Amino acid sequence: MSVLEKTARPITELIAEGDSPASLYGELRSVFETESASVAGARQARALRDRWLGRKSGVITATNRRWLKAAPRELKPVVGKLQNLLRKELEAAVKRAARTASAPARKDRRLDPTLPGPERVLGSVHPVRMALEEVLDIFRPLGYTVAEGPEIETFFYNFEALNFPPDHPAVDEMDTLFLKDGDLLRTHTSPCQIRIMEAQPPPLRYVVHGKVYRNDTADATHSPMFHQLEMFAVDAGITFGDLKGTLEHFAARFFGPDTKTRFRPSYFPFTEPSAEVDITCPFCNGSGCRVCKQTGFIEVLGCGMIDPNVLRNAGLDPESHQGFAAGFGLDRFAMLKYGIDDILLLYQGDVRFLRQFR
Ligand code: DAH
Repeated sequence: MSVLEKTARPITELIAEGDSPASLYGELRSVFETESASVAGARQARALRDRWLGRKSGVITATNRRWLKAAPRELKPVVGKLQNLLRKELEAAVKRAARTASAPARKDRRLDPTLPGPERVLGSVHPVRMALEEVLDIFRPLGYTVAEGPEIETFFYNFEALNFPPDHPAVDEMDTLFLKDGDLLRTHTSPCQIRIMEAQPPPLRYVVHGKVYRNDTADATHSPMFHQLEMFAVDAGITFGDLKGTLEHFAARFFGPDTKTRFRPSYFPFTEPSAEVDITCPFCNGSGCRVCKQTGFIEVLGCGMIDPNVLRNAGLDPESHQGFAAGFGLDRFAMLKYGIDDILLLYQGDVRFLRQFR
């Protein structure tokens, strides 16, 4: 006989047959729990309430009449407690079931076309890359090939082959970042001249660009890593006039048609003769300002005729071939062209700065 059927019989009979008040109420509770667990929707919740708590024929009314009221005196307090407990539990559970059943289903998330869409952040071209592309666009039509070289160099390519005397101050650890095995981080892009001359016979016209490293502390004009660009040509009969013409053309294209150039004698181990090139200051157009220290000119690059020793070190005969070379800092070019006054801005990765070059 199920416990629900037992609610139709007086408790005295049930006890006589071996049931106890605690087991009867316990079974009833577990039947209720099973039923209420499967309730879905408001209708079933109402049916559950009527079946268990309905005034006339609900389970609680039945047990109240046939179990509690019919209980012998000595069992009344126990049965009363069990009956009360169950009623309270049922009332709470039925209320809960009703509430869940009537709760509105979660609104599905519809597309709201009036909301702003997610922003797609576009990257921007770094000013150094912009300067590089502009430089390359000037040299490519002149027949120059664009190349790169290793950032880890040997002492030979970085210094020796370029005619640096062994006691040259640049070789010092103060300026050069040496690696454990004696190799080093290249201090300039000039070693690429040797590598290319070794690999290919003249005529050569090359632009080489990339990162270079110096043992410098970062400040507004120094960075331990920066970008250089090296251009050089090797052929029979190349003269300093070719170099001058090429660089004047370049300066006018890069800095503007009114730019004047000025070649000052200088010294580099790998060129002879050597020169430093100044251009009319792009900030004041040559009238004198803070940037050019009132001179109207600023230095932008080093250049010269490739030293015969360098040609020889690369396996060429300086009697039959000559060459010119020039090297400059791309970071400085970018700063001059775009009016940036601190080299560190180029390397801090601040998007507020970088986005201006979109
Ligand atoms: N390599 C030089 C430096 O890093 C720059 C340079 C000067 C390169 C004169 C050249 C040159 O090719 O002819 O300071």
